[in-house]
Amino acid sequence: MDSELSSWFSTMFCFMFFSFTLLFSLFSLLIYVLRLKLWCNCEICQALLTSSWTKEFDNLCDYYTHLLKKSPTGTIHIHVLGNIITANPENVQHILKTRFENYPKGKPFSALLGDLLGRGIFNVDGESWKFQRKMASLELGSVSIRMHALNIVKSEIESRLIPLLSSVSGNKQVVDLQDVFRRFSFDNISRFSFGLDPGCLKLSLPVSEFAEAFDLASKLSAQRALAFSPLVWKVKRVLNLGSEKQLKEAIKMVDEFAQQMIAERREKGFSENNDLLSRFMGTINDDKYLRDIVISFLLAGRDTVASGLTSFFWLLSQNPQVESAIRDELERVMGSTIIRRFNIRVANPDQAPKFAPGLTATVRGGLPILVQERGA
Ligand code: HEM
Repeated sequence: MDSELSSWFSTMFCFMFFSFTLLFSLFSLLIYVLRLKLWCNCEICQALLTSSWTKEFDNLCDYYTHLLKKSPTGTIHIHVLGNIITANPENVQHILKTRFENYPKGKPFSALLGDLLGRGIFNVDGESWKFQRKMASLELGSVSIRMHALNIVKSEIESRLIPLLSSVSGNKQVVDLQDVFRRFSFDNISRFSFGLDPGCLKLSLPVSEFAEAFDLASKLSAQRALAFSPLVWKVKRVLNLGSEKQLKEAIKMVDEFAQQMIAERREKGFSENNDLLSRFMGTINDDKYLRDIVISFLLAGRDTVASGLTSFFWLLSQNPQVESAIRDELERVMGSTIIRRFNIRVANPDQAPKFAPGLTATVRGGLPILVQERGA
């Protein structure tokens, strides 16, 4: 009789426990959906829900820019996504400076890039971010690493960029400058981060498996953000399906490559080298953490530099008067022979060319990091 009673109690307990868990989950889901306001009838939400914005705009950034320009506060609220987007300098200062601690990147954001970036600087908050930020400022600010970067860029220009451009201009061939600058930036940032030269900008324009895997992994990680709900890509990841399967394979290639680089450095010794990996190895022993840190640097310096240069030359092609101003300024400050040989040495910073208004216009309007996400 006792055992029957106790089995009845345990069945009841299990039943009540599962019922409570189920009801609580449903209630949480309801609150989540209510907060998203999925049925919102406002103009912006309707445009997004029906995709009607695509009739007037090529991409979402242009649409948001249009809305931000119209908004008297420089801020818009996307109810269906639960997002606030602001271009108001006071808000930006508040979020990124005054109350920086209150606005971490947050878990939803770091989950998107987590498989690729791990605990790298772009994907962490708090102490881990502070530590990497301090290390990065220290390293990137040092004179020796700046000289190292300058030497890498100079040799890439002299031995690859100029010969490539000369060869196509001699044959009156057309070249895709964006592709050239992507190769240029990948060679530079890989040499700077790992001390490895992938040779993407060699005259034959070879395919680099590492560059391709890295690009695919970055693209597919970013595309996760476009899924209707994070559940979609998370389920695909568990089942190893479609884009998530591709992403897993691409990340595996990146990992293998990074592990190989780290192992080689450990074997040959790192104290003599100036690349970031060698310098970080002096303080960090955890190889996975080293991999994460260096991969973030690759991401930081790849598309940013490539698209900055592409926008800069595109703007120049649209503004011939700026091109002549830059040429005049360079000749005046440095002399044409020096420029031709790319042996640029600036002794006095006051004399360094300011590159007329060209570069600042690019930095203001043409760079790829248009949005920074923060949680609250
Ligand atoms: C024209 C080229 C570049 C542009 C426009 C650019 C822009 C930016 C922006 C807007 C951020 C802030 C991102 C955020 O907090 O969400 C950032 C962060 C960062 N950038 Fe760059 N960047 C460029 C090149 C580079 C290069 C070449 C490196 C490395 C060698 C680099 C290293 C970093 C690092 C380490 C951070 C993380 C800082 C942090 O989270 O505190 N960047 N960059």
